[in-house]
Amino acid sequence: TTVVADTGDIEAVRALKPVDCTTNPTLVLKAIGSDAFSDAIDEALHWGAAQGGTGEKVVNAVADRLAVSVGSALAAIVPGRVSTEVDADLSFDVEASVNRGRRIIADYEERGVGRERILIKLASTWEGIRAAEILQKEGIDCNLTLIFNKTQAIACAEAGVFLISPFVGRIMDWHAKSTGKTYTAETDPGVHSVRAIYDYYKSNGIKTVVMGASFRNTGEIEALAGCDRLTISPALLKELAEDQGTLERKLSPETAQKVEPIKLDEKS
Ligand code: E4P
Repeated sequence: TTVVADTGDIEAVRALKPVDCTTNPTLVLKAIGSDAFSDAIDEALHWGAAQGGTGEKVVNAVADRLAVSVGSALAAIVPGRVSTEVDADLSFDVEASVNRGRRIIADYEERGVGRERILIKLASTWEGIRAAEILQKEGIDCNLTLIFNKTQAIACAEAGVFLISPFVGRIMDWHAKSTGKTYTAETDPGVHSVRAIYDYYKSNGIKTVVMGASFRNTGEIEALAGCDRLTISPALLKELAEDQGTLERKLSPETAQKVEPIKLDEKS
């Protein structure tokens, strides 16, 4: 399992040494609140003003530039990939999503970060998946996020996407809220969902990478050890390291083999 940090926090990434990083607008906003990005904010605002326009278009372009500043700083630390998300407002617009993905890549390339280091993160709506299909054909690898079921995962594989992010915690949150139950790693419906997708992909020889996301506790992470990649918040990464010894041991394939496969309930 490749360890991915779900954060834009530069110091945390330096300390935790993940292979990849994933970001989203909330994480970028948190990151640019730190002193490390005061110059980047000035640069993006001046750049925005020089575009000569006002309103939403410029604000969006400035937001993308800031996301790329954070992503470039992360790319300078990690050896692998950095995911940068296309604005969720575009999730139902194929053309706008493709254009934003292309612009984000152009901004990275302008900063000397090659496209092979980046994943364009898109919501797994029908339109998001079509946008990813187009970007993939242009050599821009995509991370399709907000995956809650096998149907979305299969559509992503058919579109030839590089990586999917099936969610755990948001599924569990929803079940916990609607049933009032507490779930263990063995009964967690989010863990079952990711495992079903992973098993389907592997038994059908699908090359798209499976990266479990949206974790609420270390039990969920342990239950999915052995998955291709797992993207984990710094808080949970620290908990894993402190409570259970090294991450390497925790997430190693040897550990994964010891995790009993979860029996899937057809109704869940
Ligand atoms: C990764 O793709 C997501 O940004 C992240 O894991 C979502 O986690 P959340 O459900 O805690 O927001």
